[in-house]
Amino acid sequence: MKDNFQREINYMRLSVTELCNLRCRYCMPEDGICKIDHGLIMTEDEMITAVEAAAELGIIKLRITGGEPLVKKNIVSICARAAKVSGIQEVCVTTNGVLLPKLAKGLRAAGVARLNISLDTLDPDKFNYITRIGKLSDVMDGIKTALNAGYRKLKINTVLIGGFNDNEIRDFARITMDYPIDVRFIELMPMYDSGDFGPKAFIKCDKVLEMLPEAVPVETDGVARLYRMPGAKGNIGLISPVSDHFCAECNRIRLTADGKLKPCLHSNQEINIKGLTKDEMVRKMRETIFAKPERHAKLSFASRSESGRNMNEIGG
Ligand code: GTP
Ligand code: 5AD
Ligand code: SF4
Repeated sequence: MKDNFQREINYMRLSVTELCNLRCRYCMPEDGICKIDHGLIMTEDEMITAVEAAAELGIIKLRITGGEPLVKKNIVSICARAAKVSGIQEVCVTTNGVLLPKLAKGLRAAGVARLNISLDTLDPDKFNYITRIGKLSDVMDGIKTALNAGYRKLKINTVLIGGFNDNEIRDFARITMDYPIDVRFIELMPMYDSGDFGPKAFIKCDKVLEMLPEAVPVETDGVARLYRMPGAKGNIGLISPVSDHFCAECNRIRLTADGKLKPCLHSNQEINIKGLTKDEMVRKMRETIFAKPERHAKLSFASRSESGRNMNEIGG
């Protein structure tokens, strides 16, 4: 359905857990999060009912996020049931990739169409630093397993961090030369609490084009402006929510693991649907779509996101 600003809302991001097996410094605190009471998290049945309600209102694309969605024990079942909901044309997953060696095949069999994998550096020591506890080889194995499982349109999400990975832009671009993988650079969003990172860490996506002058524009795809290196198999994407917000084209709503609909990533507006029947959920979702603000306030490290949550509690 259309919102008040004539935007067609057809995409829902469903976070299935706030928990994660990594601790990326810009995303969540070092000691993880206080586990909230199990009873406050949506059950699998509630999640599927919410997907059915969303589909009734014209949602055709579902992206499963977290935290890290693959740490959820019943993730394959959630994906399989969601993919069967009438009206849902595509179920995708955004993951850090660590558990893909175990799960890629099962997700594919469950009907998950596409995977986006977060990866901020190709250096093992830097990977361990940025994730506080991760091993780069786990993600690399995950990417290989996903390719072998038949995923042909992988996307890597790389958050640009000044002084950390801006010297790796060309190394990331090289991946697109050899594999059918899109590498998308994302501007660091100043969330409620973006850990150790202040204004110096922010770099605009334009920096990618300065570093890769031979990349040519090809098209846009959702929130990303796409470019391609000559002879490449995959695209380079630029996602610039800070320097050039894309609210006018926004087509999405979000549902958090604790059952709160969020009409906008950067607004603190939340509408609870946990515990409701499907018809009640449909009503609340309609309200949420109508409550979607025209745009979010300008983001900067001086005026942070008004979301009131960290990224792991929203799902990106
Ligand atoms: P595709 O289906 O492949 O287009 O995926 P996607 O880009 O919609 O999802 P993904 O989870 O890979 O998100 C990529 C990055 O874009 C993440 O850093 C998200 O936080 C960010 N992002 C996604 N949607 C929005 C949005 O509506 N607003 C803002 N500001 N950022 C977003
Ligand atoms: N700014 C930009 N992207 C972020 N992500 C997590 N936190 C931030 C942030 N503060 C990214 C993750 C993942 C996606 C869901 O959101 O790296 O790719
Ligand atoms: Fe986990 Fe993703 Fe947040 Fe990193 S960015 S801590 S992988 S949820």
